[in-house]
Amino acid sequence: MKKVVTKSHSKITRWPILDRSDESAVIDVLRSGTISKGSIIQVLENEYKTFTGRKYALAHNNGTSGLLAAFFSLGLSPGDEVLVPTATFWASVLPLIWLGLVPVFCESEPETLGIDPQDMLKKITPKTKAVVIVHLWGLPCKVEEISYIARKHNLKIIEDASHAHGAEFNGKPCGAFGDVSVFSLQGDKLAPAGEGGVFITDDYEYYERATCLGDISRINELTTPQRRFAATGFGVKTRISSLAAALGVSQLKKLKKNNQLRNTNHQYLSHKLQALGFDCFIPSSNIQRVYFEFIIRYGDTEPDNFLQTLQQLGCHVTRPRYPLLHQQPFFTEGWYKEVGRYPKGCGDLDQIISGSFEKTITENNRLIKLPNFCGEDNGILDQYAEAFRLAIS
Ligand SMILES: Cc1ncc(COP(=O)(O)O)c(C=O)c1O
Repeated sequence: MKKVVTKSHSKITRWPILDRSDESAVIDVLRSGTISKGSIIQVLENEYKTFTGRKYALAHNNGTSGLLAAFFSLGLSPGDEVLVPTATFWASVLPLIWLGLVPVFCESEPETLGIDPQDMLKKITPKTKAVVIVHLWGLPCKVEEISYIARKHNLKIIEDASHAHGAEFNGKPCGAFGDVSVFSLQGDKLAPAGEGGVFITDDYEYYERATCLGDISRINELTTPQRRFAATGFGVKTRISSLAAALGVSQLKKLKKNNQLRNTNHQYLSHKLQALGFDCFIPSSNIQRVYFEFIIRYGDTEPDNFLQTLQQLGCHVTRPRYPLLHQQPFFTEGWYKEVGRYPKGCGDLDQIISGSFEKTITENNRLIKLPNFCGEDNGILDQYAEAFRLAIS
């Protein structure tokens, strides 16, 4: 089969986009000699507060640590149940196991690929205390329905906004919907710092607990009795390095411009693919999505043969990269119980965390991942549209 996609992928898919200003930001910190702690960390936190309209922010060495802090900050008890999507990256969920919390997997709904509010309702028990929401691939999940259920059933919301820097729902930014919210700043993310994470909240007590967990130097700045933990913290160290923070600040400044470029490219191709019958997750006008990854869906059948044809035509397409969590050996072989050391009286845990998740499995099998087109279009988008047209004809 003759290739249709002949233009180079390398420049348009290159990420992160780093320039002289990023270099200077990091070099300034290097030259200052303050390469561990340093005021740039507070600058990063303040930028994230402004960006999301939240009151408190604490920078972490990665998003996973930020999520551990988020779960810890809420003061939940071992054995408490937390509703979580099975279709997400492991770090949205696994840190909660270390606190003896029980993950109750839920289906995802097909419109946004986020946790399904209807399935949440079916899985709430008197032990359910919280829900994890994730704006997968940059598509805001059903925050209105989920917030309503959370209020009604007194559930805390842990928002994993790691894919959604700059996304909005009804004019409100992702990162502002959780009792506690977290961004990952890992190198693939939309505002990368190399490695990094930011925990944000409006609740001082949650901020204080997160600080005590992992940021020994910041405990000293607390003005409450929690300052007494300054000599020990709570046994974990999760502070970001000032070098990473400098890059995080510099990249956040470019988020809008970089998102605009990705959005323009992905929306351009999405409209062409939509006309061919693909579902490109174009949201309604009250939702501003971003593209951490460019995922689309086709027809009712699994796309394996179709993917092969597209690949022969020169497209860099694959299946999405996250396996469903409930199917992973950490859960199916019971290792989560080694880590969770659950108290007696939690019930049959294997039964609680298991389920069939037919809807999520079916929907997941229909997804196709395209490259992220992050730079200036060199004509490759039209070639992709042509390859998709040929592949279905
Ligand atoms: C949805 C999601 N949550 C959390 C994380 C964890 O972030 P980090 O890699 O910064 O620890 C990631 C990714 O890397 C992610 O994709």
